[in-house]
This record gives sequence, C-alpha cells and structure tokens, in this order.
Amino acid sequence: MNPNSHSALVAVQITDTHLFASESQKLKGVNTAKSLQTVLHGVQQLQPKPDMLLLTGDLSQDETMDSYQRLYDAIAPLQIPTYWLAGNHDCFAAMQPILSQPPFHPQKSFQLGGWQFLLLPSQVPGWVGGKLSADTLTWLDRELQQCRDRPTLVAVHHPPFLVNTTWVDGSTLENPEEFWQVLDKYPQVRLAIAGHIHQEFAAERQGVQYLATPSTCIQFAPFKEPFSSDRQQPGFRVFYFYPDGTWHTQVQRVRYAAVT
Ligand SMILES: [Fe+2]
Repeated sequence: MNPNSHSALVAVQITDTHLFASESQKLKGVNTAKSLQTVLHGVQQLQPKPDMLLLTGDLSQDETMDSYQRLYDAIAPLQIPTYWLAGNHDCFAAMQPILSQPPFHPQKSFQLGGWQFLLLPSQVPGWVGGKLSADTLTWLDRELQQCRDRPTLVAVHHPPFLVNTTWVDGSTLENPEEFWQVLDKYPQVRLAIAGHIHQEFAAERQGVQYLATPSTCIQFAPFKEPFSSDRQQPGFRVFYFYPDGTWHTQVQRVRYAAVT
C-alpha cells in the first residue's frame, strides 16, 4: 500500500456483475450472486475503507427489477456511496428507481476528493456493442469545459480500444475517435475506465490511461477465438486518487471456488 494512501480518495470499480432475478442462476457455470458476494467480501477487507464504489455496467443479466434489487441488497450493507452506469445487458428504466436510493446515487457528474467523475451511457438498444451518442458527446464536452481545473476520470461501459481478440473487439465502443476528439481538448482528463470485456486491460493514449477491469463473475480469456472463459478468478479494481491529480490503481482477485 502506498504510505500516503490515507490522504487519498479510495474508490473501487466493480463491473459486469450479471445478476439474475433468481439467486441460484448461473452464467456459464458461475453463480453470479455468490461470486459477487465473494468479491464484496474482498472489498470489505480493504484498509482504508473505500470512499466510493463505481459500477460500470452489465449489472443485470436478465434486466429484471429483482436482479437490481439483489444488487442493492448486496451492496447497501457496505454503506459506501455507490455510483453506476448501464451496460448493454441493463435496462435503465428498471435500474434507475432502485439504484437511486442511498447509498446508491444516480448522478453521472460529481466531485469527490478534488476529482471530477463523469459517467457516460453507451448503450444501443438491441446491440451488444456500444456508441456514444451526439447528445452524450455534447454533454461530456460541456462538463469538461466546466471542470478544467479538476483532475478527471471518465467511465463508460464499452471500452474505446481494441484488445486483439476478434469476438470481443466486435462489440467495443463504435466511435472511439469521436470520444477522443472531445478528450483531446481537455488535459485534465487523467484516465478512462471501462467494463464489458471481463478482463484486466491497460492502454495509454495522449497522456490518458485507459483501463478495463475483471468482471465479478466469468472472465474472458484474452486472445482466444472463439469465446473461451478464463481460469482467472473474479476481481475488482481499487484506485487511490490524490488531490494533486496523481493516482494509482491495482486489480485484486478473490478466490471463488466454483469457477471452472
Ligand atoms: Fe457488456
């Protein structure tokens, strides 16, 4: 742990929980409710305690209100402010009412620890891939104009980069160039985080770090065609954000015995 961690805002990214209405249902052999509980137990071991959770989409697999209630019931006892965005598997209308109750917050632009956080929708109805709409890009531009002095994190479900696995790269963000056209105007943007690809990933472009994080359930094997699940364990990512704009991060895996 960084010796200065006590001065940092500690945030945890949790992504692609793929919960069902049923507690016993599995996704490719993994009980997603149980694997999330294992991940949350790992989050609860962190010292210092996280100041914030960031949920980056595909929170439900079946888009039911019961699945979002299951998510709420799992996370609320941690009593950590929790922000979220929707992925391609999510139903915004079903999740919004449940995930607006404390400690969940519906805001998509907020400030904590001297940092600005911007959460972008990238869903396209009926499509696995994602795209930032013209309205979203305009919103992003306007928000970045208004927080030029704050180090900024941008979150979006679909990563704007390729990971050199054909079946995965077919559903990443369709218009990364339009995203980058906006980001390139604002040097306060330090990093952009994503989910969707169920694996750890890092890339750098124009001084911005792009990160993806393991799912809390199944892992996609990198560079395997066609789909193959990885034997890597579920996990989460912890961030330490400092008021001077510096930051560091690490992925932590948890041991979930039922992963096959
Ligand atoms: Fe996804």
